[in-house]
Amino acid sequence: MSFEVPSDAYGRFMGRYSEPLADRYVELVGVRQGQHVLDVGCGPGVLTARLVDRCGADGVAAVDPSTPFVEAARARLPGADVRQATAEELPFADDTYDLCLAQLVVHFMADPVAGLREMGRVARPGGLVSASVWDHTNGTGPLSPFWSAAQDLDPSAPGEGHLAGSREGHLAELAGEAGLDEITSTSLTVRVPFTSFEEWWAPYLLGVGTTGDYMATLDEEHRRAIEQRCRETVPQAPFEQDATAWVVMARAY
Ligand SMILES: C[S@@+](CC[C@H](N)C(=O)[O-])C[C@H]1O[C@@H](n2cnc3c(N)ncnc32)[C@H](O)[C@@H]1O
Repeated sequence: MSFEVPSDAYGRFMGRYSEPLADRYVELVGVRQGQHVLDVGCGPGVLTARLVDRCGADGVAAVDPSTPFVEAARARLPGADVRQATAEELPFADDTYDLCLAQLVVHFMADPVAGLREMGRVARPGGLVSASVWDHTNGTGPLSPFWSAAQDLDPSAPGEGHLAGSREGHLAELAGEAGLDEITSTSLTVRVPFTSFEEWWAPYLLGVGTTGDYMATLDEEHRRAIEQRCRETVPQAPFEQDATAWVVMARAY
């Protein structure tokens, strides 16, 4: 998966959706001053920055496997404990954090159950473990218009609906398999404004994430055909796009 990309490319591609999601997410899970929190799969620090605002840099740790993202998060948030690691092998002691959060990460984990189990291990007993993943199955994910256009042209284009946690209830199933307690599910929807089609489309050419991987397999003619199909199907600018994420919240054992 292409997350070894410059942090500004990530910001233009996904940060435009994950920034407003992070605002809603910290409210939902009730991040408060005095808590020790861990951001798993922090990327360039979108959610991490909100955690530092509320808890102070000393109260925040974060991990991500991507070298440029770890560097960007460290530069953005001096004093926070940002490490290069995966969810499946968290470099922290048992029973350490009041909250362990993973915003838009479970679907990229090599072993989502192991990742959630590790989050439960490093959370203190009774601490909150929570994850969010875009809804990729109902046409309400941020990348749904792209995948819909791609699949109109090539029904074998992969989409993201098969990824872990991206269908309703699946995050809760995974949390149960990871041995977490008191599991509850909800969703969050954000609305993102666009002033032109180009503003919406250009980040798809930056090579980020699943769509970047897919675009890299295509020739120029096919890429332009997807762009044209998106022009026909995305609303006339200016427009707003809603994006919905599933959220699971659970207690560590
Ligand atoms: C869509 S980004 C989300 C970044 C950030 N949480 C946000 O909301 O903007 C997915 C992130 O998951 C990271 N990632 C991929 N596999 C991972 C794993 N096994 N454990 C932890 N993070 C992982 C990627 O490097 C990337 O930064």
